[in-house]
Amino acid sequence: MGLAHFLRLFEQLRLPPRELAQRPPRESVRQVQTALSAALADPAFCLDCLESDIRLPPSSRSSADLVPFAGDAERGIRVALGYWGPGAAAGPHEHADWTVTAVFHNALMVQTYDHEHARRTGELAPRRVFGAAVGQAGHIYHPCLHDPRNPTGTWSISLHVVGPLHSPTLAMQGIQVRGVSTAAGDSTVGDSTDGDSTPSSDPVDRQLARIAADGARCAQVLALQRWPGDRARRLLEALFQAGSGPARRAAAAELAQRYGIDAWRASDLPPPRACALDTQLEHAWPGVELGVVAASGEVSLVARSRHRRCVLLRTGPRAARALEFVAAHPSFEVGALPGDLAAADKVRLAEALVEGTAFRVGGPAGGADREVETWNVS
Ligand SMILES: [Fe+2]
Repeated sequence: MGLAHFLRLFEQLRLPPRELAQRPPRESVRQVQTALSAALADPAFCLDCLESDIRLPPSSRSSADLVPFAGDAERGIRVALGYWGPGAAAGPHEHADWTVTAVFHNALMVQTYDHEHARRTGELAPRRVFGAAVGQAGHIYHPCLHDPRNPTGTWSISLHVVGPLHSPTLAMQGIQVRGVSTAAGDSTVGDSTDGDSTPSSDPVDRQLARIAADGARCAQVLALQRWPGDRARRLLEALFQAGSGPARRAAAAELAQRYGIDAWRASDLPPPRACALDTQLEHAWPGVELGVVAASGEVSLVARSRHRRCVLLRTGPRAARALEFVAAHPSFEVGALPGDLAAADKVRLAEALVEGTAFRVGGPAGGADREVETWNVS
């Protein structure tokens, strides 16, 4: 079953046209869930989804984290992939309309909350936690509060079939629930913008959206390992050309290992630049605030705007002081990185910063890679 076949299901089930603002029978939503589970076992469907998502214009990701790559306009149904970095969480949020969600790659964990309790008290009361592995699908029919997260150390991808938004959320009814995002839908990097793909006018937001898009490319490279062949190879080549930093490196490595293609040599793009202790690095993203977050035995260098937060690099606690130094200094020499790091560790950290394009070698004239655009995960 390819994607086109799956999309015909909405008409076959006679799901109501968008303008009627009707919730379909629950049994129909269950049938969508069952069909999605079956489709995810078919490589043709999975590759159709990935290809459609990879071919989306980069500008479409300028603000939204869930960007539909397909759908049924008459019925107001959208199909989108969601990308979850290691340890990423959406944060508690509400769904007031029906939706079907599946794990497309790797795994997710979902914390649910008591919706009625939240409506009455304005407080979250946990109900249950469940895990979902690749290929598993579920649905939401009645209003629900939940917080999905990626509990693993590598990328996960979710697939969402989102019904038209008709029903008022608690926030729209004037009920504020502490700790709940007021935006609808799932998110991978902070702001939930399900259904809103209006480009942000904030240049820092746009920059971070590009970082998130490159993170999605890292996940796509990993997912493509499941379906080797000519189609996967073509998509890897597209990801290599479109990506930067870790996404380009991941695509190049997969092309070399599985297909014997030296993508760096075949392209006009320079390979990553090497660093040494006397290399001077400069922050390449003016206006983007960097910070350090420590959690679960790891430290992360993050880029922030008012609406978004993106993890640029995640490493062990031994590099905490070095990352704090990096966040505080727009320019520094690699050997000056503080903390309990050997010279080789400092160089490796510097190369990761350059490869992630957050920093560049030798000042503005000596930039290493193309500008911006990356998501660095170590
Ligand atoms: Fe959600």
